[in-house]
Amino acid sequence: MTTMNTGMDDQIADAEAGAEVPDLPLPKMHRQLHPVLKGHVEIEHVTVEFKDNVVAVKEASLEVKPGEFVCLLGPSGCGKSTLLNCVAGFVKPTVGSVKLDGARVTKPGPDRGMVFQQHSLFPWKTVKDNVAFGPLMAQQGKHTADKVARTLLGMVGLSAYENSFPGVLSGGMKQRVGIARALANYPNVLLMDEPFGALDAQTRAMMQENLLQIWGEFGITVIFVTHDIDEAVFLADRIIVMSASPGRLIADIKVNLPRPRAAEVVSNEHYIATKRRCMDLIRAESLRAFAQQDDRA
Ligand SMILES: Nc1ncnc2c1ncn2[C@@H]1O[C@H](COP(=O)(O)OP(=O)(O)O)[C@@H](O)[C@H]1O
Ligand SMILES: [Mg+2]
Repeated sequence: MTTMNTGMDDQIADAEAGAEVPDLPLPKMHRQLHPVLKGHVEIEHVTVEFKDNVVAVKEASLEVKPGEFVCLLGPSGCGKSTLLNCVAGFVKPTVGSVKLDGARVTKPGPDRGMVFQQHSLFPWKTVKDNVAFGPLMAQQGKHTADKVARTLLGMVGLSAYENSFPGVLSGGMKQRVGIARALANYPNVLLMDEPFGALDAQTRAMMQENLLQIWGEFGITVIFVTHDIDEAVFLADRIIVMSASPGRLIADIKVNLPRPRAAEVVSNEHYIATKRRCMDLIRAESLRAFAQQDDRA
């Protein structure tokens, strides 16, 4: 029995025979059958120094457990993207290391899905083909790749748009395609860099709820970068607060709010207390960053 297509011959055979590919493990079922064991991220003493002595991240150590939803929160320019890019494999730490499931990260790979603030979809490919691209590159065969794409587009509520091109979609819809695409290789960790930062408040709130739903079904580890305190408290199991430049990890705050979370959670006492704590930390850091800029001027 072939459960996965591995090459061109299989792709052709698929297409010719219209072969029925065995059902994919639907994420929810998959999670019930297999508790999350993958997606263990270990950031160990990471310092990133760019040229001209710009230290973007300083001595950062953080462990993210399989299936955890962690937000990296900090003021603009504090090194959030740089640290996330170390996990993605786009940036090499000057000192220290990042491990995913015990293996040292040295370059980007399909075990990590990435979503950026600005979508990076192929404008000449349809929505479905954008999502199917990763599985196709992973030699999965067109039939399987299309099936994965359709499953994921269903999860982000875009089934009706599978044949549209990105150009006709709203910003929120493009980001949903971006999430579907990032998940299409069934990565062990989803890395998100201010993915909803450019969206209006209403759309952002809906995207956050949809993301939590998908995360709940996939049980995937998520590291989510944001400078928005409400977003961090709403989404995270844990919030890691970063200091103003050079970015150090200054607080690790557990968010003990029940799930599933909905908009009403903002009136929960723990929500308000957690938000307050984050606000105080970020405010102090932003003031410090401001003073540093003054010193340099
Ligand atoms: N490729 C790079 N080369 C030089 N400096 C960089 C580079 N990327 C980021 N920086 C600097 O590192 C610091 C942190 O940037 P970044 O990680 O983008 O912060 P954040 O995502 O928190 O806004 C900033 O001072 C930024 O200018
Ligand atoms: Mg950034």
